[in-house]
Amino acid sequence: MPKISHFECSRCKESIAADGPRTVCPVCAGSLYVRYDLSAASGASKREAISEEAAKSPWAGMWRYRSVLPEVPPVTLGEGWTPMLRSKRYSNVFLKEEGANPTGSFKARGLALAVTMAKHFGLKKLAVPSAGNAAGALAAYAAAAGIEANIFMPKDVPFANYVEAVLYGANVTLVDGLISDCGRIVAERKEKEGWFDISTLKEPFRIEGKKTMGYELVEQLGWEYPVAVFYPTGGGVGLIGMWKAFVELEELGWVKPGRRPKMIAVQSAGCAPVVRAFEAGEKVSQMWQNAETFASGLRVPKPYGDYIMLEILKESGGVSLSFPDEQILASLKDWAKNEGVFLSPEGAASTVAYDHLIKSGYLKPEDKVVLFNTGAGLKYTDVTAKAAGLEQPS
Ligand SMILES: Cc1ncc(COP(=O)(O)O)c(C=O)c1O
Ligand SMILES: [Zn+2]
Repeated sequence: MPKISHFECSRCKESIAADGPRTVCPVCAGSLYVRYDLSAASGASKREAISEEAAKSPWAGMWRYRSVLPEVPPVTLGEGWTPMLRSKRYSNVFLKEEGANPTGSFKARGLALAVTMAKHFGLKKLAVPSAGNAAGALAAYAAAAGIEANIFMPKDVPFANYVEAVLYGANVTLVDGLISDCGRIVAERKEKEGWFDISTLKEPFRIEGKKTMGYELVEQLGWEYPVAVFYPTGGGVGLIGMWKAFVELEELGWVKPGRRPKMIAVQSAGCAPVVRAFEAGEKVSQMWQNAETFASGLRVPKPYGDYIMLEILKESGGVSLSFPDEQILASLKDWAKNEGVFLSPEGAASTVAYDHLIKSGYLKPEDKVVLFNTGAGLKYTDVTAKAAGLEQPS
């Protein structure tokens, strides 16, 4: 495991000492990247050693990449190394099944690492605004680490997110508003309460945990890039983390530098600030008014890291697209019935986007692509049933 050399600001490139917990850049408030000297992990033999060492390691899942993660004993519940499922109907479509993570979503990766580092730095009280799944994941890892979790989420999150957070023992506040309102409450109260804020992109290790998705998808495809990666985008941590992984993979010599995947950032038409900014060629997004979608993880009206996502979309030659909830629901039903996979609404945004880009000719059927199902459909039975007009028998 490498030593962290410093944090680097994603905006002004300021270098910041890694001698304690950090939130954002002290100069410009940009999100921070974790940087290491990765030379000890460089080269083909180090790449080949990953699967051998993983088989012997007591730490499962994403910790197979410990040679590119901080040198700290993990707080782990078995997150990562999720299945890569080949579609039954489209031979070049691979579904990255993140619903298989502890707490049923990809949020487990970022919060496993954030809580690992919080424990390492001796933090006692964490706080987070959440669209739902980050709350469940923080609550679980905080429970595993014996750290206090203070969670603020919209009152209409999927019920499972509320139940799990309460049962994991977190202090849960349901807010009559959106994740942006929850974020405001955390910002207002954190100093007085002594909370460390681990909001999306205001804490560097959540990106670091999520970068393992980029390593995994490339390893699972035989250390080759797909043509495109479809990512249901709210705050954008996964997209940013995967791009960081691709940069590191090339630096390590584990992947031939070449055409990185086109990143496809998918949103719901009910909350699409990144799509609107992308289409207008803007560098940042504007607050989306009256955000509404049953894909609760995508209800982020103004992502903090919008400027990073928009840069990545451009650099990768990708696009950002949004679709109405009815189309997302139709794709969710299609994949359940024809593939045996119960997608989260967010994951179904990826599958709709794929269908659209095949029809438009942007992608060809022979292009290998990875679609992210970021959460388990079973976490959303209440919201999906409502959208599908199903009622619980009385
Ligand atoms: C299932 C699911 N998918 C996607 C997202 C969006 O994630 P990100 O903030 O990394 O864009 C979330 C966020 O809550 C989520 O829970
Ligand atoms: Zn900065």
